[in-house]
Amino acid sequence: MSRWVRIGGVLLAIAVSACGSAGGDAVKGEQLHRACFGCHGTELYTPDRAKIRTSAELRKAVIEWNDRMNPKFTKEEIDDVVAYLERDFYRFP
Ligand code: HEC
Repeated sequence: MSRWVRIGGVLLAIAVSACGSAGGDAVKGEQLHRACFGCHGTELYTPDRAKIRTSAELRKAVIEWNDRMNPKFTKEEIDDVVAYLERDFYRFP
């Protein structure tokens, strides 16, 4: 019984380290995010300005802003941008 718990823990650790933040690629996300500079830079994301407090909210905001973009980001690209924003600006608990 406890052996299965241990194996489960190992698998979870592998999954987490392989995926990082929701599977996004922060390096790619940083490049993609340049397309958002038409309206604002990264100053909105600093702790004194940022309103977003959770990872789910951040994803929602990126998806909503992406609606205004042309061309739009794909689902993977949204993951990349979220990963970049979480890596460099939002440090969620
Ligand atoms: C049409 C102009 C416009 C575009 C394009 C745009 N944004 Fe924004 N964005 C804004 C404005 C204005 C705000 C501030 C809204 C507020 O304070 O309620 C904002 C706020 C945000 C926030 C919330 C910051 C916080 O923590 O309070 C995020 C995250 C964000 N934008 C991400 C993006 C991303 C990613 C893109 C590119 C896909 C993008 N935006 C493109 C205008 C834009």
